[in-house]
Amino acid sequence: MKLLETEIYGKKIGLLKRGDHIYAFAAKCPHAGARMCDGWLDAQGRIVCPDHKYRFDPANGRNTSGEGYKLFTYPVDIREDEIWVGLMSTNN
Ligand code: FES
Repeated sequence: MKLLETEIYGKKIGLLKRGDHIYAFAAKCPHAGARMCDGWLDAQGRIVCPDHKYRFDPANGRNTSGEGYKLFTYPVDIREDEIWVGLMSTNN
């Protein structure tokens, strides 16, 4: 599992491969804008923000540590060996 930041049409997106799934999410933390890909994954596969350690589920952006924020997530489609990311957020 690895966090990777990329840019699609000028929009910075974080990517995570966990098992057979690839998740796409906003590159900046909804709390105070830290780079999510400078964070890490906890034992449950949640993204831990590097600044204040809030945790987010990459599947739906839910703030699992309970501070009330929501990380934008984007739909991902794997087409042969390409990763397609829908730039409309699934939860905003
Ligand atoms: S900037 Fe991410 S938890 Fe504060």
